[in-house]
Amino acid sequence: AAPVSPDLKACGPPTLPAGAKPVKCCPPASTNIIDFEFPKNQPLRLRKPAHKVTGDDLAKYKDAIKAMRDLPDDDPRSYTQQAAIHCAYCHNSYHQVGFPDKDLQVHYSWIFLPFHRWYLYFYERILGSLINDPTFALPFWNWDHPDGMEMPSIFTDRRSSLYDPLRNANHQPPVLVDLSWNRKGADTGGDVDANLNLMYTNFVEVKAPLNFFGQAFRAGDTPYTVKTGAGSCESVHNTLHVWSGDRTQPNGEDMGSLYSAGRDPLFYCHHSNVDRMWNLWKSFGNKDIVDPDFLDSSFLFYDENKNLVRVKTKDCLDSVKLGYDFEKVPIPWAKTKP
Ligand code: C2O
Repeated sequence: AAPVSPDLKACGPPTLPAGAKPVKCCPPASTNIIDFEFPKNQPLRLRKPAHKVTGDDLAKYKDAIKAMRDLPDDDPRSYTQQAAIHCAYCHNSYHQVGFPDKDLQVHYSWIFLPFHRWYLYFYERILGSLINDPTFALPFWNWDHPDGMEMPSIFTDRRSSLYDPLRNANHQPPVLVDLSWNRKGADTGGDVDANLNLMYTNFVEVKAPLNFFGQAFRAGDTPYTVKTGAGSCESVHNTLHVWSGDRTQPNGEDMGSLYSAGRDPLFYCHHSNVDRMWNLWKSFGNKDIVDPDFLDSSFLFYDENKNLVRVKTKDCLDSVKLGYDFEKVPIPWAKTKP
């Protein structure tokens, strides 16, 4: 077996769900791919809970997203291109090097966490560079803490660059997040204790790496088969996607569908917390997967200087080495046995 990697030359039109408007997902062409190098001599970026982001931090965040929205669509750092990355890696646009008929799908397997960590890594650095702030850090949607169990209000101001109109109108603050929402039944919001118990079940009780990360996905594997499968981290994350998206749209756009999720600034804030879960889970004494096909799996991203960079999973295991960390906040579920 071998690790998966995307074939840039073979990137093609996506296979979109019914009712989706046609969209281009492949990145702008580049003649040159550089290998990733760790950032040097840079201040640590400290990601904070979104519900505590105010004042200067909030102003900078809005300015950065606004600057990203103002870039021309063909700039790889633009809002449109950043959103398209998620589409390219989820909808049969990218195929695997060596396997032209195999989709490179970054969900439902062990590449879920590393892919999204890298995606945010570049997104955060691009935003920071657009406002000339090397300390800029993406907030995290602290949905695992009672104070963060609603859609963060910084995203719901209609005049803000953080706003996206395609969200569930019934799930606006102060409606409580429901971490086990099943799209049915009374839509009245979740329950703090039930949410905390679910956190415990998925992030404390799960210790085997494959059950946390997701099952193996190697070069030549077909995504969405019984062999692959989501881990406990991805499962909880999925619920928040469909909970946030607009159910009156054909596919729960934006957050509720893979091709459109990256269009909502909330996506990256949500994934910042997903990323934090990886660090927390390891802080409980659990270990990363050591299989070389996991460690050598690779992805392509444009950086803040518009260079196309090849990154490998093994280089993203330590977020501090990547130049960022998360503010320490209470973890009320770490000891809540259901
Ligand atoms: Cu690529 Cu939250 O999903």
